[in-house]
Amino acid sequence: MHEYTYTSNVLTGEGVELRAVAQKFGTPLYVYSKESLLDHCRHIERAFEGHPHVTYYAVKANANKALLRLIAGEGLGADVGSRGELYLALEAGFPPDRIAYSGVGKRDDEIAYALQRGIHAFNVESVEELEIIDQIAGRSGAKARILLRVNLDIDAGGHAYVSTSLRQNKFGIPRQQAADVLRGACSLKHIEVRGIHSHIGSQITRGETFLRAAEALVALVRELRAAGIPIHDVDFGGGFGVQYRGYVSHPSLPAEEPEEINLSASILIKAVMPMLQETECRISIQPGRSIIAHAGVLLVKVLYRKETDGKVFLVVDGGMNDLIRPSLYHSYHQIVPLTLADSPHETVDVVGPLCESGDFFALDRALPRVQRGEYLALMCAGAYGYVLSSNYNARLRPAEVLIDGSSAVLIRNRETIEQL
Ligand code: LLP
Repeated sequence: MHEYTYTSNVLTGEGVELRAVAQKFGTPLYVYSKESLLDHCRHIERAFEGHPHVTYYAVKANANKALLRLIAGEGLGADVGSRGELYLALEAGFPPDRIAYSGVGKRDDEIAYALQRGIHAFNVESVEELEIIDQIAGRSGAKARILLRVNLDIDAGGHAYVSTSLRQNKFGIPRQQAADVLRGACSLKHIEVRGIHSHIGSQITRGETFLRAAEALVALVRELRAAGIPIHDVDFGGGFGVQYRGYVSHPSLPAEEPEEINLSASILIKAVMPMLQETECRISIQPGRSIIAHAGVLLVKVLYRKETDGKVFLVVDGGMNDLIRPSLYHSYHQIVPLTLADSPHETVDVVGPLCESGDFFALDRALPRVQRGEYLALMCAGAYGYVLSSNYNARLRPAEVLIDGSSAVLIRNRETIEQL
């Protein structure tokens, strides 16, 4: 599962020296380990211990075609949130009947495209959306399978921007209205009600939160069935938290305490599956981060070491346009030099080249002293990294490389200036 380690003083991925990869392909550069990705898929699948289920990989976490093909090859399904993601999932070989479509703002053309491609189901977020799906399905002579996304009003903790199941969030239908809305849905001619869905947030690190969500869903299934509404599917969503701190260690690195995570995706699945199975439904989950985060790193090069009154800035060649998580959510990514010399530690801000003070990767971070021209790795950057990159400041999006055994293969070209 853990493919990035120091071999002597050099950071490697699957044994390949990352400095050589950075020199060959240039920086900023996203690098992924195939073995790590496959291990994470298999780890999650094994946790189901043979119980029937569908794991929909949340394509929004990382939509690189080569990576999607690997995930599809493992037999996972795909959770998509746009026409583009659906297109990519189909291209990568995910079977339509293992694709679910989530999101509060599905456009008419997106609904029609998904119906035409025969996806398993839409996770519906509002009454109006339900009516529109019914109309569009009617026009195309199809019947649309739907799950209703319920808002369980559970505080998932973590950053407010990735918490999705509070009453004030835009997602889902309040639990209390679920029966009425589903009863209405059952009366629509072109809708087939399959069940209910919940996704309570992302990077959730407390297992109890998921247990509460599972209990709430099971109780709701009982209530709905008692009210005469047939429920066949329960989709438990994603959101399983992963370790970001202290991911790699070495005697020359500052010690970094891993965050307290009292669950891993697989432990959690083992805990909630027996509860969800009581419903005798088709059970599904939608993990993104827990499949791909650890497989990826972002490599950057130190452009300048800038010392001002009491501060040291390491200005690197990657910025918030390449990885926005630290700027947007104050997310923590461990940062380590690709080559370690026994340098003294110092406290630095690792910042990008863009014209905003919010353009940083780390503030007041202890790092071994590095110089211009040295490379750094931002660990655990496989999820919500490249997909959130932009052309801000007319910067070119980075390239992506896959390490597969002893080779490093380009899986997305660096953008060129002509593409701007
Ligand atoms: N299902 C639905 C409906 C979702 O909206 C999401 C993520 C997932 C599944 C997958 O969640 P995961 O297992 O990856 O936590 N950009 C933020 C995270 C946004 C999550 C959006 N929804 C970040 O970088 O932390």
